[in-house]
Amino acid sequence: MKGKRVLIGVSGGIAAYKVCEVVSTLAKAGVEVRAILTDAAGEFVTPLTFATLCRQGAFTDKDFWEASHGRPLHIQLGEWAEVLAIAPLTANTLAKLAGGFADNLLTNTVLASKCPILLAPAMNTDMWEQPAVQRNWREVLTDGRYHAIEPGAGMLACDREGLGRMAEPSEILSHIESLLYTKGDRDLAGKRVLISAGGTREHLDPVRFIGNPSTGKMGIALAQAAWHRGAIVTLVHSITGEVPLRGVRSIALTSAQEMRQEMLECFPDADLTVMAAAVADVKPTEYHSEKLPKRSLPNALPLTPVPDILAELGKLKQPHQKLIGFAAQTGDLVKPALEKLRAKKLDVIAANPIDKIGAGFGSNTNQAILINAEGKQVEIAPCSKLEMAHRLFDFVMNKD
Ligand code: CTP
Repeated sequence: MKGKRVLIGVSGGIAAYKVCEVVSTLAKAGVEVRAILTDAAGEFVTPLTFATLCRQGAFTDKDFWEASHGRPLHIQLGEWAEVLAIAPLTANTLAKLAGGFADNLLTNTVLASKCPILLAPAMNTDMWEQPAVQRNWREVLTDGRYHAIEPGAGMLACDREGLGRMAEPSEILSHIESLLYTKGDRDLAGKRVLISAGGTREHLDPVRFIGNPSTGKMGIALAQAAWHRGAIVTLVHSITGEVPLRGVRSIALTSAQEMRQEMLECFPDADLTVMAAAVADVKPTEYHSEKLPKRSLPNALPLTPVPDILAELGKLKQPHQKLIGFAAQTGDLVKPALEKLRAKKLDVIAANPIDKIGAGFGSNTNQAILINAEGKQVEIAPCSKLEMAHRLFDFVMNKD
């Protein structure tokens, strides 16, 4: 994202304090960030806070009416931005966007810009659920320029538990990164994308299992990227704990057998399937439903192979479906990946080294050689897992 230009619009809600983190993270990543605060936003956070975090400028309506800018400020900012994110978006600013109003610096800049605009609403539950607010929300989203991160449910600053809580800074940041990459193109609109993520666990008893270090970050990045590109996404994941992914249907499970069942069930509806999960190859032959005492643990553990899910999907694949696998390798990358691509009847395989720093299990970054069934190869240098996900979708759709 280094060198990209992001404009953050802040309207007047308490969630404005969370946007400080968005701005700070972007600036630390080398992004050029500028901010516009509405007068109401200035009651919650100060322009100085944002100007300091941006290292650039934070603008208010006072700047808008000053005569010393040369070209009008809203035109300059509108032309400058590659992505505009409005967070928090209040009911008032939403209504102005829906109506095409331009009565302050932020709304004038919206109208003077052409870049994709990300909207992250935040408000009290009753306000969010008002028919007028919902009508305005539906209205703005008919314009393809606007990309939405719907508010979630949670404890609100008004002591209510309910819908209206702004998306977390990490989700806003991922969406901004995607929009900088795609420039707002929803090339997967209407496509059904099925993704598996995380390492499966094959239990010997309720406590002990055979597993691997996969954290599911690559699969989650793929699910986010597909959703940001307009797809209808199902994420089948074996990561324990919550996977807070807006816009994604998420199915949690533990073992390879459970993953196989879910993947087989979802696969017929999928246009594009990515098997990013690190599936165990074997399981303990016997499962004990009670925890085994230490003295009863066997010296040698009898193992049984688990089915190869991807190979099964390859056999079921229809001509309109695309099937993508990962080959997590040490040493030689291409030869074993090509063998897996052919044996499992894949359209594309991502061969990624797990023995390099900044790639593989648990890392926030990855690198890979992408190979398709025609033998085309593209090397992707180390990048964020979200960018890797976008590069993979580009490769699958012959856009690289
Ligand atoms: N895979 C799968 N089911 C399994 C094992 C692997 O669906 N039981 C999928 C993985 O999700 C990945 C691809 O197959 O997309 C390749 O997995 P990998 O572990 O690299 O290779 P294996 O086929 O298991 O072969 P090996 O362990 O011998 O390298």
